[in-house]
Amino acid sequence: MEIEFSLLPPEKRRTPPGDPLSIPFGTIFTDHMFTMTYSEGQWHDPRIEPYHPLSLDPAALVLHYGQGIFEGLKAYRRGERVLLFRPDKNIERLNASARRLVMPELDPGFALHCIKELVKVERDWIPEVRGTSLYIRPTMIAVEARLGVKPAKEFLYYIILSPVGPYFKEGFNPVKVYVSDKYVRAVRGGVGAAKTIGNYAASLLGTKEAIEMGYSQVLWLDAIERRYIEECGTMNVFVKFDDELATTPLDGAILPGITRDSVIRLTRDWGLRVRERPISIDELTEGLRTGKVEEVFGTGTAAIVAPIGEIYYKGEVYRVGDGKSGPLATRLYDTLTGIQCGEIEDPYGWTVEV
Ligand SMILES: Cc1ncc(COP(=O)(O)O)c(C=O)c1O
Repeated sequence: MEIEFSLLPPEKRRTPPGDPLSIPFGTIFTDHMFTMTYSEGQWHDPRIEPYHPLSLDPAALVLHYGQGIFEGLKAYRRGERVLLFRPDKNIERLNASARRLVMPELDPGFALHCIKELVKVERDWIPEVRGTSLYIRPTMIAVEARLGVKPAKEFLYYIILSPVGPYFKEGFNPVKVYVSDKYVRAVRGGVGAAKTIGNYAASLLGTKEAIEMGYSQVLWLDAIERRYIEECGTMNVFVKFDDELATTPLDGAILPGITRDSVIRLTRDWGLRVRERPISIDELTEGLRTGKVEEVFGTGTAAIVAPIGEIYYKGEVYRVGDGKSGPLATRLYDTLTGIQCGEIEDPYGWTVEV
């Protein structure tokens, strides 16, 4: 398939913001977007066109039954070079989410081509300052107009772009998380491992209550026993014990994070003992009390690595270390951001030139 381009003339294009570090995450979008439709069993009409509101029938299935999935990845620029970080993994996960939600898959090679072509059109929007990037949001929704819970036959796939700075207002400083024992995000056998819109809706009330208590995100517990830590709002979680680095296994309830996978690979190569195993909240709080837990941090495309400095659980507040970013989280943040923007050599072949 050939992408059709219908671009704004230069005089109609907006000037990208001067200081992306000061823009609240995800609030500004670039001049163009990518769209492609699916009907009669195939994808067609791939286009790059001016950013515009969507026109949907009020009966569009996504609006009623939540048949919608998305992805999040970033483009980084240093001078002439523009790099994507492991985009093949995002496309693989988008297709896995599509299978779980009975939606059509994309051809991986063509999906990457579409992302690259849109990023090329908007290259002036990619900020260059360390800690900033162009956030890429591929999205697929069911647009067929019909009431009744059945998989749709018509879909829209689109990509929008947003220049971003840090995800948290804290920047790389430790964030505070709230362990919810009241609400759960996802359950094994459900859709927790898919990046589907309903998972985020399910997390809103718990997150609102956490924010009211002065915390940035919820640290979710497993839905069955409410005993094992799962993940944070938009991040997987790692716990650095004195003798190992542990993270929740991919049990079907958490999102298989691409940053998580990269952190496991890096830390194993650095000689750490890394284990994917269940971590109970009791083990975590006890380890914080005794000092066996040295660091806790979240990982995700938006925040990259976010040190966790304080954890609230059942009326008690647990501080992590001395409340500052720990050495492992700092080394990971520096290494990942260095590889992502091309400042550090990439021995893993993770970066892809646009
Ligand atoms: C619920 C959830 N967990 C974890 C992550 C981290 O995944 P990744 O590292 O692929 O961004 C994200 C972000 O996409 C997320 O939304």
